[in-house]
Order: sequence, then structure tokens, then C-alpha cells
Amino acid sequence: MNDQTLLQIRDLVLYFKTSRGDVQAVDHVNLQLHKNKAVVILGESGCGKSSMAKAILRLLPRNVSQYHGQVLIDDLDVMTLSDEDFRRQVRWVKMSMVPQAAMNALNPVLRAGDQVAEPAMIHLGLSKDEAFDLAREMFQNVGVPVDFLTRYPFELSGGMRQRVAIAMALITHPQLIILDEPTSALDLLTQANIMNVLKKIKWETGTSYILITHDIATSSELADEVAVMYAGQIVEVNDAKSFFAQPLHPYSQKLMASVPRLYGDEEPDFIPGRPPSLLHPPTGCRFADRCHLRFDKCDQEPPTFWVDGHPVKCWLYEKDHQAASYTSSEAGDAS
Ligand SMILES: Nc1ncnc2c1ncn2[C@@H]1O[C@H](COP(=O)(O)OP(=O)(O)O)[C@@H](O)[C@H]1O
Ligand code: SF4
Ligand SMILES: [Mg+2]
Repeated sequence: MNDQTLLQIRDLVLYFKTSRGDVQAVDHVNLQLHKNKAVVILGESGCGKSSMAKAILRLLPRNVSQYHGQVLIDDLDVMTLSDEDFRRQVRWVKMSMVPQAAMNALNPVLRAGDQVAEPAMIHLGLSKDEAFDLAREMFQNVGVPVDFLTRYPFELSGGMRQRVAIAMALITHPQLIILDEPTSALDLLTQANIMNVLKKIKWETGTSYILITHDIATSSELADEVAVMYAGQIVEVNDAKSFFAQPLHPYSQKLMASVPRLYGDEEPDFIPGRPPSLLHPPTGCRFADRCHLRFDKCDQEPPTFWVDGHPVKCWLYEKDHQAASYTSSEAGDAS
């Protein structure tokens, strides 16, 4: 880890036990994030994005069958901490999360201000008055009128509830916030407003983000890096500029081609088929049955190759590129 590295994920595995076998939701994932940077995680539904977020924050369901690897934040290996130490030293303090559908998960019987103030009382040890003052500041930061502090969630619009959920994740000043599809189910204008709030906070506080989304267009302004997840694995990590100009992995190329264009006559190109079941994923390349560039070798699982410093898990890059061993500290660099 160098000075600028905030988070390093090495060989992270999270499988779930079901009556039909193990669901391999997060399968040997490597990723690195630098301070004050945003990495956007792209991928269709069911590719393991939310599971990866939960694995990082140790928000695990009961039916976990395998959970291992390393998650280092500021050199602290969070996987080795006891639950108590993790709660005291990491969750909310170093990293917090806006879970998927957060705006519908607010407690309906608590006023918005009480919900936002609570983490500050518990994790920063503030008095109720101090925490409320901070909650007021957070409401202003995320663009919620301060008189909404006394409102109940049902009295707020979806966009306002989502901002309240973001204010809650912000109030303890964590270095990293994981946002799981924070703008899905919101109208386009509200999506853009929330992205602007996130950009402003990043600029003002130096916070880093892991932003999970399948909304490529809205997230592109915030992204410093893009990581693409397919069938439980990261298939490409690239700096945002290069990614949006020329994605490297065939799946990334298909994802980009599926974004509707504002200008020009080109129709969006939908990806045929669906991601494979993670109960028994294919033994070769997991994208093979949907890949327009598939060839013989793709029956074997590709390693991850370094392509101009960017990890790409595809056989097309075998020639002239080195395979990543992931023992190096640069693994999955999302700087
Ligand atoms: N607790 C669980 N038990 C069994 N399977 C699960 C559990 N949670 C998620 N899954 C499965 O893991 C896979 C990845 O899910 P998820 O992480 O939610 O993907 P994404 O966020 O990319 O849509 C899916 O097949 C999903 O059904
Ligand atoms: S390894 Fe083969 S099938 Fe997989 S993405 Fe690359 S070209 Fe396509
Ligand atoms: Mg999800």
C-alpha cells in the first residue's frame, strides 16, 4: 500500500449456502481504491455487486458458506477484527454504506433528523444536541431543507429520502462511503441532483466512494475509475477516461454499447441472454456464451492480464501482456 491507497481488497470470496449448492456471489475479487477517488462498479443485476459491498462492510446474511480474503483500509485488515472491534473501529467510523433501496429502508416511526443524528451519538459519542447540530449541517450539505429534520420519512419524496440516507452515511465523516444504486428508481433530474451532491461532498471533504450502479451515463461524471463485475468476478478495472473512450473487456464494450445515445442515429445495442447462474458458473470464461469475440481458448478460464496497467480478465489480451499474480500491492489498481 502506498500513501494514497485507502482500500485494498485481495482475493475476496463470499459464497452463500442454499439447498441447491453454494452461490458464488463474490469470487476472488481484487480491487484497490485511492484516497478522495470514486470507483464506479458496473454490471448487470445478479453479478454480485451488492454482495461485494456487504462483504467489504461485513454485513453478512446467516447463510454464508465461505467468506475469506483481505480487506485493508488504511492498512487495517478488517477481516481479522472481532465483531466488536469492527463496529468500534471501522463501520461508520472509517466506512459507511448507503444500502440498495435505502430510501425505503428508513425507519417509518422515527423523524428524519433523529435517524441521521443517531450514528453521531453512537459512534462519535456526541450529545443529542450536538448530534442534531451536525445533522442540520448534513441536511444542508445534501440539499434537504433543515425543517425536514422533524418530518417522518413518509412525508418526504423519494429523492429527499435518498438524500437523508446519504446524510446518515456522511455524518460520522467516514473516509469511504459505499453507495449501492443510490439513484435507481428516481427520476432523471433527481438522479443528476444526487450525483451533484456526491461530487460536492467529495470535493469538500475528500471522501472516497465505491458507487455501485448500472446507470453508466449518470455515474460517468463522478467516476475516477470503473470496475466491471460479471458473474461474481471483476473483469476489468480502468481509469474512467480510458474506459469511457475505449473499454477493454468484451462485456464492458457491450455494456457501453447498450447506453442510449442522445445524438446520432445509432440504436442502443442490447446484450443477448443473461448472466449465468452463480450456483454452477461456467468453468471457462463466464461471459463466453454471450461474447461476440469468443474463440477456442475461451473454454478455459482466462487469467487477468495487465493491459497498459489495467487488469482485464480476457484471453484476447494474452499476447504481449502479463498475467496478474495478485500478490503484488498493485493488484486491481483503482487509483
Ligand atoms: N443471502 C443470499 N443467499 C443466497 N443467494 C444470494 C444471497 N444474496 C444474494 N444472493 C445471490 O447472489 C447473486 C449476486 O447477488 P447480488 O450481490 O445481489 O448481485 P447484484 O447486486 O449485482 O445484483 C445473485 O444470484 C443473488 O440471487
Ligand atoms: S475470454 Fe473469450 S469469451 Fe471471454 S470475454 Fe474474452 S474473448 Fe470473450
Ligand atoms: Mg445489487
